Amino acid sequence: MDRDSRLVHAGRHPEGHEGAVSPPVYRASTILYPTMAAYEARRDRKYTTYGYGLDGTPTTLALADALAELSGGVRTLIATSGLAAVAQTLTAFLRHGDHLLVADTVYGPTRVFCTEVLARFGVDVTFYDPLVGSDLAGEIRPTTRVVYMESPGSQTFEVQDVPAIAAAARERGALAILDNTWATPLHFRAFEHGVDVEIQALTKFVAGHSDLLLGAVTTRTDELYRTVRDGATMFGDCAAPDVCYQALRGLRTLAVRLRHHEASALRVAEWLARRPEVARVLHPGLPDDPGHAIWKRDFRGASSLFGVVLRTGSDAAVAAMVDHLRLFKIGASFGGFESLVVPARPERTARPWRERGFLLRLHVGLEAVEDLLADLEAGLGRLRAASPGDGGIAP
Ligand SMILES: Cc1ncc(COP(=O)(O)O)c(C=O)c1O
Repeated sequence: MDRDSRLVHAGRHPEGHEGAVSPPVYRASTILYPTMAAYEARRDRKYTTYGYGLDGTPTTLALADALAELSGGVRTLIATSGLAAVAQTLTAFLRHGDHLLVADTVYGPTRVFCTEVLARFGVDVTFYDPLVGSDLAGEIRPTTRVVYMESPGSQTFEVQDVPAIAAAARERGALAILDNTWATPLHFRAFEHGVDVEIQALTKFVAGHSDLLLGAVTTRTDELYRTVRDGATMFGDCAAPDVCYQALRGLRTLAVRLRHHEASALRVAEWLARRPEVARVLHPGLPDDPGHAIWKRDFRGASSLFGVVLRTGSDAAVAAMVDHLRLFKIGASFGGFESLVVPARPERTARPWRERGFLLRLHVGLEAVEDLLADLEAGLGRLRAASPGDGGIAP
């Protein structure tokens, strides 16, 4: 079945819900059992259905099933946010004395979770150059339990050679975990590229409306799922069924929204790349991007989010541009219908960020692209006017 059709039908069972097209919101903490024996057998139910509210309800399961089918994984765990999905996955698989390899370009709070929380519990954390490819084999130790990837990288959009890195991990007995939020399973098929565990912040493209937080962890095997499930249960974390229902709504239109985001973002990126105020555009869909070849080989499309390195490094000049944009609003996150812009300040240790110009991150929303270009054009005009001497175009 084509992915567009899967998106419409995955996880839906109208016959079980009085014919309702979408599963209703089931709210429950207590689940009742017909017999004492059934009650006592409830613990194992959490792996397949629900035995207590903490395991979710039919609404949670509908979302989890739809996501597992879409990703091509075995099972999906729903977490209360993307960051909760990251934290619960890493804590489920790592223990004191283990070594963890993390791409230098991961989402900032993921990095902090590794250095501040996992390190405190005795996990040895090493950040690796995201462009290392199969050479990562040289960094894998006998104690390396997890190789963590995110592609393209947060803020700077380096594309990782996921198949090569995942193969190197597997050969040495480590798990390959990928944050696939940028591409979604529609544009990057994690399990076909050797990944064991796929993480998504559903907050972004799946939700699509900037009004909820949710995460997902999808696994290649049932055994991996059980490990993540047990770990999550021990945190007492549980996504609310109402929020899962909202995410299911977003999911149904993901393909059409993503197509629009992709086309508009590419047009904005190409337009910016031709501007004299711009030093570099960081978008793997552009043919001269260093990650383009791998992106073209492995991805089925791009999304809305990319970076722009301006020629100026002046905070004041960039503020003159950004503070008065009409359509690009200043705010964290991405994947919603509205365009966003934020200053990006990459923290890197394995692969230092050497660009001197100011780095902006753009999320291109569903507005008409001509309006977005006009907004940016006016902004770049303000940037030039506010740039001391060089008009914002001197390198
Ligand atoms: C790549 C990536 N992963 C995970 C997250 C965390 O998601 P959430 O905001 O739902 O915690 C984010 C948030 O920006 C992200 O960009």
